[in-house]
Amino acid sequence: MSSTRTPDAVAEATTGRLAARRLTLAYEDRTVVHELDLTVPDGRVTVIVGPNACGKSTTLRALGRLLKPRGGAVLLDGTELSRIPTKKIAQSIGLLPQTPVAPEAITVSDLVARGRQPHQHWWQQWSEEDERAVTDAMDRTDITALGDRSVDELSGGQRQRVWIAMALAQETDLLLLDEPTTYLDISHQVEVLDLVRQLAAPAADGSRGRTVVTVLHDLNQAARYADHLVAMKEGRIVAEGHPADIVTAELVREVFGLEAVIVPDPVTGSPLVVPGAPWTPGPR
Ligand SMILES: Nc1ncnc2c1ncn2[C@@H]1O[C@H](COP(=O)(O)OP(=O)(O)OP(=O)(O)O)[C@@H](O)[C@H]1O
Ligand SMILES: [Mg+2]
Repeated sequence: MSSTRTPDAVAEATTGRLAARRLTLAYEDRTVVHELDLTVPDGRVTVIVGPNACGKSTTLRALGRLLKPRGGAVLLDGTELSRIPTKKIAQSIGLLPQTPVAPEAITVSDLVARGRQPHQHWWQQWSEEDERAVTDAMDRTDITALGDRSVDELSGGQRQRVWIAMALAQETDLLLLDEPTTYLDISHQVEVLDLVRQLAAPAADGSRGRTVVTVLHDLNQAARYADHLVAMKEGRIVAEGHPADIVTAELVREVFGLEAVIVPDPVTGSPLVVPGAPWTPGPR
């Protein structure tokens, strides 16, 4: 296997609170991620791409401590996640899994409010700060009008936005999103990805924005929105770096086994992956 892992200006220029070191992940006796090293650049958007079953969700779950490493470690500020109290992790890392399951008959606003649990104390169950965070998260995901509806009865795309709102309401510095655009129509996809960029943008006072790691299937969206792109195959990182540096026809062939032409995106200039067509459209 050729290695297209390039030196990366973003990773070199920034530090990473969250990192995987020789991370090996397994389900029973099957290893699915092999000695993976990854430093997530702070205040940037990292996008993980790769074919089905290559280990993207497994990696993300380990980064959020939902899965215990079989070998190696995930470090937050240099400390192994397994040594950090659960509540502290929940205050630092928010995770939207690929297929979250809602409690039966819960309303939209109650589900979003659950994102505030890590911030609550026995002496104060709900604060104005909690209220503001929930209202803000619902507003940013365009679900304010759905507040009293039962989550069970929503469309797939509405439900997905409720889950994103819950993760946002947690107001963590690190946000891990597993395919947040699934089920969304194209305008809501763009809205969610624009929101991800806004979250990572530096604040008015110059302090850095939030750190986002997201899995996406759409390579062109990945190339548009990522500061740092990570391409995985069979539980290993094949290439990582700025999309403009790593997205090539060779990489697409190596990772996805697909022949493609790479052209500049007419809007952003980022690499646009156009699959080679085995057939030509018929006459009109
Ligand atoms: N809970 C589990 N128990 C056993 N095997 C699992 C479990 N979850 C995932 N796997 C296996 O681990 C491998 C990696 O799965 P993972 O969900 O990480 O893939 P992925 O890259 O996220 O794929 P997709 O693009 O389809 O979401 C797959 O072979 C999958 O079948
Ligand atoms: Mg997955």
